[in-house]
Amino acid sequence: MDLSNSSSTLSLGFSQLPDDSASLQRDRKQPIPLQLLEPRARSPENNGAAAAENGEDEDDSDVEEFRILGHCIKRRRESEPASSSASSCKRIPIAAADVEERRAAIRSWGNESISEADPDLFEIMEREKNRQAKGIELIASENFVCKAVMEALGSHLTNKYSEGLPGERYYGGNQYIDEIETLCQERALAAFDLDSENWGVNVQPYSCTSANFEVYTGLLLPGDRIMGLDTPSGGNTSHGCYMPDGRKVSGASIFFESLPYKVNPQTGYIDFDKLEERAMDFHPKILICGGSSYPREWDYGRFRQIADKCGAVLMCDMAQVSGLVAAKECASPFDYCDIVTSTTHKSLRGPRGGIIFYRKGAKPRKRGTPPPQGNEIEYYNFEEKINFAVFPSLQGGPHNNHISALAIALKQACDRRHG
Ligand SMILES: Cc1ncc(COP(=O)(O)O)c(C=O)c1O
Repeated sequence: MDLSNSSSTLSLGFSQLPDDSASLQRDRKQPIPLQLLEPRARSPENNGAAAAENGEDEDDSDVEEFRILGHCIKRRRESEPASSSASSCKRIPIAAADVEERRAAIRSWGNESISEADPDLFEIMEREKNRQAKGIELIASENFVCKAVMEALGSHLTNKYSEGLPGERYYGGNQYIDEIETLCQERALAAFDLDSENWGVNVQPYSCTSANFEVYTGLLLPGDRIMGLDTPSGGNTSHGCYMPDGRKVSGASIFFESLPYKVNPQTGYIDFDKLEERAMDFHPKILICGGSSYPREWDYGRFRQIADKCGAVLMCDMAQVSGLVAAKECASPFDYCDIVTSTTHKSLRGPRGGIIFYRKGAKPRKRGTPPPQGNEIEYYNFEEKINFAVFPSLQGGPHNNHISALAIALKQACDRRHG
């Protein structure tokens, strides 16, 4: 999107500096050179604004106050039009009464609740609230979030664009968004007792299906092989799924080659011997454990052995059990897996979304091998690939209202465990 060469007289209010730094590059330490087009030359208008900013005295009769979304905004009344050389916008004279009417309309638009702004939608939402409160929900993958999480979801944080990661964003004005995302990352690691030397986390995925696809996109080429639990055995479609007639269902099976492993129909447990045999023939690049409806402990150690034997990265999608893992009520995939994904809205009881944890730092030494010397040390290389797959490959701006709500849920997960 190049805003600088627009031939239209319409403007989004930003222009780029001559060097085209908005092209997507990973190594950006410089602030993004976006500028306000608003003329900063001293016009009667912005003289007044500057004076107000500097706390200088000004004629009160020239200053008007109005409220938008609960904020009090002071502005100098319009008098003379701004100098035409400073602004290319033509002003169309509007009758004072019209202006007042428009202001009143904007004020009331900004402050209306749903019941006033959209009574039809409000009425349906009320019926759904009633249904949730009065019915009995027996869907294991759903949960009810607390008021604080809902407040964060419905907050002003939805207004901000912040493509990129903390400290390297494409838009200005992200100092507080950076703080929120960093806090969320720290809490995500703390909730699962992870050390930031060895684990990194991306809290931006819009859902767990997106998170899984982002892992595949970062680590694989189209057509590369993955292996996950068969859907009828309790697996999830996002791990690669075919219909009985062979039709490919999810992006995971459309863009990658997937071969499922299954449970033993007699015992209901994963048939590890068959899984190993298939994995040694198929050689998946990613072996996926975790599923939607496998009501057993996952034997992560056994998965690790098979992944090592066939040379696969071991990934766990702990969506259903992540709250139980945080509470230490079931085995942790972090002890054995290279990458762990999850939903954030099931047992973790946060807002609807996804999360990706990845190993980083030096790889552990394989048993029985001598200690590596200097440049023989091998390092994980997931961080950059996964972050790049999330943005810019598959997502745009992170949902900051979601990230702040997730930070609350993760704090609660830590507090419940330690409290
Ligand atoms: C294991 C697993 N992964 C992924 C998903 C999909 O999550 P989302 O709805 O966030 O895409 C589910 C949903 O039930 C799941 O059980």
